[in-house]
Amino acid sequence: MTKPNPDATDADKDDEFTGVESEERTPKLDAPDRRRPQALLYVQKLTKAYPTNRGFFRSTELLHALNGVSFYIRHKETLGIVGGSGSGKSTLGRCILRLTEPTLGRVVFDGNDLTAISASELRGLRRRMQIVLQNPYTSLDPHMTVGDIIAEGIDIFGLAAGRKDREEQVAGWCARVGLSESIATRHPHELSGGQRQRVAVARALAVKPDFLILDEPTSALDVSVQAQLLNLLQDLQAEFGLTQLFISHDLRTVQYVSDRIGVMHFGRLVELGRTADVVARRLHPYTRALFEALPSLETNRRALPVIGNHDDANPLAPPAGCAYFAHCPNAEPGRCDVETPVLSETAPRSRHRVACWHPFTN
Ligand SMILES: Nc1ncnc2c1ncn2[C@@H]1O[C@H](COP(=O)(O)OP(=O)(O)OP(=O)(O)O)[C@@H](O)[C@H]1O
Ligand SMILES: [Mg+2]
Repeated sequence: MTKPNPDATDADKDDEFTGVESEERTPKLDAPDRRRPQALLYVQKLTKAYPTNRGFFRSTELLHALNGVSFYIRHKETLGIVGGSGSGKSTLGRCILRLTEPTLGRVVFDGNDLTAISASELRGLRRRMQIVLQNPYTSLDPHMTVGDIIAEGIDIFGLAAGRKDREEQVAGWCARVGLSESIATRHPHELSGGQRQRVAVARALAVKPDFLILDEPTSALDVSVQAQLLNLLQDLQAEFGLTQLFISHDLRTVQYVSDRIGVMHFGRLVELGRTADVVARRLHPYTRALFEALPSLETNRRALPVIGNHDDANPLAPPAGCAYFAHCPNAEPGRCDVETPVLSETAPRSRHRVACWHPFTN
């Protein structure tokens, strides 16, 4: 055992986690190193290439929706993923849960390699990993009552002792997410968007997961309702000690809920670090562009522009080097358009990482 160092800075403590992306630091699944706190989730070089038939003479081309993405999420931590439309955020969430099969890479959840285990083993872990999707208008079965929707997982995993217990659990979840108990007999179309999303959250939490993916959970809602739902999610995260991946194209939302932020661009993580560090330093030119696109607090948030992948860049044939080259104020021709930058520490033992040859320095 090493003695705890009372002078250790935050950065020193965090060093236990730096480099987890590298192959050498791959967690030992069968012999965990007790001195090094294990993260709940490790995502390693996750890649998803969709075959498409849009190529020359309809030959199959590959669209790299996700390209070698690596990160970890510690127990009870919220990692926010922000990026423009089509940057691969939803693909990332789906590949982690194996709702979409990744092409390459590894996902380790609480010591279990999800990309290597059998379907039946995966089924056993499914209860512990839940997802809330963007659109409550399509994610809830219109033919089911709210009560049956909330109890879906309770039924699948046999978590109720009987009918009465099931009803009590549903009533308890309705109350916990701020819905009246009487709503259990209604159908989704009778509910507002905010109420539907509360039902989706109750359904996810009713199976007592450890890990929750929230994929744009507030994007389809009115601004006033967004804030209420975000506050509810914050309370639930604290109450149940949830570990979360929070996906959004809205930097302000991600900033509000996340302990750390990862910025995605064209299927790659281009910046990753503690929220305060990313907000203060905005090292990657794409991150900086996202911040510069934020309207002032007084401006209506609905007017928030979305910085997407750029129209002139084709995801089927991503440009060589850095995908942000054509738009980057710091670009160095001959290097940035040739060599693809990898996510690297900005200083020795720093957890703030950027994939850029010429990041901002102030
Ligand atoms: N099933 C699929 N088949 C082929 N291509 C797909 C498929 N799903 C996603 N893609 C493509 O992969 C890329 C990433 O898509 P994804 O939905 O993950 O992005 P996103 O960041 O979630 O975008 P948004 O903010 O619009 O939700 C896009 O170019 C998309 O067109
Ligand atoms: Mg998406």
